[in-house]
Amino acid sequence: MIQDPNIIMAIDVGTSKVCTIIARREGGRRFSVLSHSVVPSQGLQKGIVTDISATQSVIRESATQAARQARATVNEAYVGVTGSHVNFENRLDKLDWAAKRGVITPADIRRVPTSVAAASAEPGRKVLHALPRNYILDGQSGIRNPLGMHTSQVKVETHVVTAAAMFIDKLNQAVRQAGVSVRELVLEPIASAEAVLTVEERESGVALVDIGGGTTDMVVYRQGTVLYNAALPIGGFQFTNDICLTYDTTYEAAEAVKLEHGTTDPASLGAIADVSLPLAGRVSNRTVALRDLSQLLRERAQELVRLIRIKLTESGYTEASEVRLVLTGGSASLPGLEDMIRRTITRHVRIGSPDDVPGIPDELRSPMFATSVGLLLWAIDRQGAPGHVNHSNNHEAEEQPNRGVSRFFKKMFPR
Ligand SMILES: Nc1ncnc2c1ncn2[C@@H]1O[C@H](COP(=O)(O)OP(=O)(O)OP(=O)(O)O)[C@@H](O)[C@H]1O
Ligand SMILES: [Mg+2]
Repeated sequence: MIQDPNIIMAIDVGTSKVCTIIARREGGRRFSVLSHSVVPSQGLQKGIVTDISATQSVIRESATQAARQARATVNEAYVGVTGSHVNFENRLDKLDWAAKRGVITPADIRRVPTSVAAASAEPGRKVLHALPRNYILDGQSGIRNPLGMHTSQVKVETHVVTAAAMFIDKLNQAVRQAGVSVRELVLEPIASAEAVLTVEERESGVALVDIGGGTTDMVVYRQGTVLYNAALPIGGFQFTNDICLTYDTTYEAAEAVKLEHGTTDPASLGAIADVSLPLAGRVSNRTVALRDLSQLLRERAQELVRLIRIKLTESGYTEASEVRLVLTGGSASLPGLEDMIRRTITRHVRIGSPDDVPGIPDELRSPMFATSVGLLLWAIDRQGAPGHVNHSNNHEAEEQPNRGVSRFFKKMFPR
């Protein structure tokens, strides 16, 4: 059975968790969430699929749970991408094919991303997005929406996001083996931005920093459009791993103590001074001073803040104190981190959460789900809009548009 075009599935394949949301479009931008499912991840490191079989099994589990709850036939999904293999280029292209009759048509606008994506093609890379930032008509710059305008020469500035084909293929394969076809791949911080940034922030300039489990993803907006993106290979995993290695304890115990007592500010510690951590592979425990543990988290946080600062400079900010920063992702909740950034980078910092999105279940109203909710909003809002490239680059899918109708889901959830 073919998926109802009003049913949308978003799958955030994160390093720590896979989150699937299924929603029904109710007209315009309105939608109702039918179901969601969160499953701990497997087979990913630093945002990249390293074990296709493990990843497909958690995607399958999450998608199956969500589809069962939604009682919907689902076979294609919007899926997030991140990793340090992602790159970008801000380019200027002359569009000789546009405005053939002297006026810019809707067809011209629709063709821009595909045309720019084709011009940006490089061996071993796949274009995820080609987002128009500015049109230049007969030499006049600063035009955001040129539809219907008269001109004899069109140029466009775009933010083009590319990713290593090898990693995209692995992600595509994991999703496909889970019984779902990829409808669109979306850069994860761009999805998060959809869920947590205001229009005003994007207009006046803002950097979104999604501090997740495996990576810290950044995207900078200026004048309403994306100017810069980066992925740092540090996330909550590294904070937890530091505890594991330093105290020779299990990952589970380190994660639990981080979530319960973790802070980057030793001065803020409460009455509890020590915790007991199991020694990995042994039956004995060791007592650890929370002050020392906090110092460890502080040092990792300082390294992260330093890297964020370097990326902000790279993106064109000369004065870090002028930057408006919005932190999101699960690790943005690490106590003390927001304050550290406020003291060392900019006082214009806040934690962004998909709280204000109408119709989102309470469990998803947390920074950890910014990407998941954002993927859904991207799907609802941007489908067919400029900037849209068929970035799954799934040649099989192009040849057989309904190839993605999953036998698995048809069998499991017949209408
Ligand atoms: N209250 C908290 N304090 C500290 N860390 C937290 C807290 N809540 C969640 N985290 C951390 O957030 C991380 C998970 O964040 P998130 O769900 O955004 O990552 P992900 O999307 O799975 O990974 P990525 O996007 O990096 O691939 C984990 O490392 C977890 O320990
Ligand atoms: Mg994430």
